[in-house]
Amino acid sequence: MTTTPPELDSSLCLGIETSCDETAASVVSGRATVLSSVVSSQMVHAEYGGVVPELAARAHMKAIVPVVEAALSESNVAWSDLSLVAVTHTPGLMGALLVGLPFAKALSYSLGRPFIGVNHIEGHIFALRLEHPELEPPFLAAVLSGGHTELLVVEDWCRYLPLGSTIDDACGEAFDKVAKLLGLPYPGGAEVEKLSHEGRESIHFPVPDPGGYDFSFSGLKTAVLYHRRDHPDTPRADVAASFQRAAVAAVTNRVEQGVRKTGFRVVGVSGGVAANGYLRERLAELARRHEFRLLIPRPAFCTDNAAMIAAAGIERFARFGPSPLDLPAAARTPLA
Ligand code: KG4
Ligand code: ZN
Repeated sequence: MTTTPPELDSSLCLGIETSCDETAASVVSGRATVLSSVVSSQMVHAEYGGVVPELAARAHMKAIVPVVEAALSESNVAWSDLSLVAVTHTPGLMGALLVGLPFAKALSYSLGRPFIGVNHIEGHIFALRLEHPELEPPFLAAVLSGGHTELLVVEDWCRYLPLGSTIDDACGEAFDKVAKLLGLPYPGGAEVEKLSHEGRESIHFPVPDPGGYDFSFSGLKTAVLYHRRDHPDTPRADVAASFQRAAVAAVTNRVEQGVRKTGFRVVGVSGGVAANGYLRERLAELARRHEFRLLIPRPAFCTDNAAMIAAAGIERFARFGPSPLDLPAAARTPLA
């Protein structure tokens, strides 16, 4: 049984995302039909080798109006057609959140349409629904991004049971830091993957295992650092491929453990790192071995986008109604 009211089928939700270094807007109709998804990635951080919060906020200010306008025009939707405005209000860089959030509030107020704040991690979970509209909980999910690494049970939409998370660096953060050690440009995850294609998995970096369902990636990053120091002549591609093998094995081991212990036959994996082709292959292998259904969104829905924020906002609004207009931004909030 669905709790979504019937009028939602014809609704049009504008989603807005400005929590880190992507300014994104999207129009989603019904529960998860993407009419447009515009993502503007900020290039300004490349020369610093990482996201500079103040520059991110300024770049969002410049991009927000044209990005939202592009999302509306690409979907052929007028401002007055919108029925809901959804926006990321947590977690993220405070200055970056404080561009999208007030923009969405002002828009909702001026249009006389409800406003809903969305947790970015919940957005990544709803990316699964964009790709698989028929998907229904319960299922096991892993969110692997630049800021988060979470293994959880989606008991129902908007109701989660956390199993484990990283005790130090996030999975994507480890890819970014190793990219930096290898002299690759930022953002580094996709660069490490590209370089790995040319290398051999010749170095046996230990697969991190802090116990339970938790993850840990900082020791692996340090192992790469020491290896570079002690063996500067090892081809960078071999280091990249060997790191990628260990980082991905840490993820597949946890997913395997989760499937074994919980017995779920459906597993969704999302977040920026889920765009990684090697990870997707290893997970597909695991799914064949353990006979579970593996769902991974297309890469454009794995990395940050606003369609996933709209999809989460639509479900949250249907279940709990709108957010108050004084909803604050928060740098960190666990998934409720
Ligand atoms: O979900 P996301 O776009 O933003 C956050 O919420 O953080 O994830 C970004 C992270 C970055 O750390 C980036 O390096 C990583 O995802 N990433 C990848 C790949 N594409 C993006 N990591 C490994 N392989 C990739 N192909
Ligand atoms: Zn994200």
